[in-house]
Amino acid sequence: MRLTSKNNGVLEPFLKWAGGKRWLVKKGKNIIPPHYERYIEPFLGGAAIFFSLPESPYIIADSNLELINCYKAIKSNHKEVEKILRLHQRRHCNDYYYQMREYQPRKQCTRAARFIYLNRTCWNGLYRVNLKGEFNVPKGTKNNVLLETDKFEKIAAKLKKGSIMCQDFEKTLAVAGEGDFVFIDPPYTVKHNLNGFLKYNEKIFLGKIKNA
Ligand SMILES: C[S@@+](CC[C@H](N)C(=O)[O-])C[C@H]1O[C@@H](n2cnc3c(N)ncnc32)[C@H](O)[C@@H]1O
Repeated sequence: MRLTSKNNGVLEPFLKWAGGKRWLVKKGKNIIPPHYERYIEPFLGGAAIFFSLPESPYIIADSNLELINCYKAIKSNHKEVEKILRLHQRRHCNDYYYQMREYQPRKQCTRAARFIYLNRTCWNGLYRVNLKGEFNVPKGTKNNVLLETDKFEKIAAKLKKGSIMCQDFEKTLAVAGEGDFVFIDPPYTVKHNLNGFLKYNEKIFLGKIKNA
């Protein structure tokens, strides 16, 4: 099966995400098995590969709670998320960005819309939190909160038939069985920064690097 990001109805990530695999979709690498029962992705991030695939039962997961909340909110009520995004677009300015950065909403859709808003207007779409788990990226140069490419309704439909989990990758991998297609894209670092472990936001990702 050939992967493509030309928009023949193919979905693309709505978040900018470090290590995102849009390029892999674009290059059309032949990594997708022709048949599989279930798609499993333990390090979901922006979900580039997941969105590029045809519909199938799935389990998608990540340890980032805000990210996973965002997918869950779109699955359950994408209209509400879009409504709040429109409000963010109207109010967006320097002060509003920093107000939103401090704000910690509890409702699922409000949290999701804040997450998308910050992702699209922060510096370089970076996700970085301090040791208390508070988002601390400064405002960037982009001001578009809503994008022409947004397809939240289609994304909600794509998310219908599967499970979205906030959990460690080991728990996700433990449920994989025969016939499943598992796409594994862990966090990584660059060689010059190598200290044996990968640092990833407020937690250390416990993946010992060999011969990197
Ligand atoms: C390289 S990114 C995945 C990018 C994704 N393939 C895409 O297309 O955007 C790695 C992801 O692993 C997640 N992660 C880091 N440590 C994890 C862990 N222990 N268990 C599950 N997910 C983890 C991060 O939150 C991040 O979203």
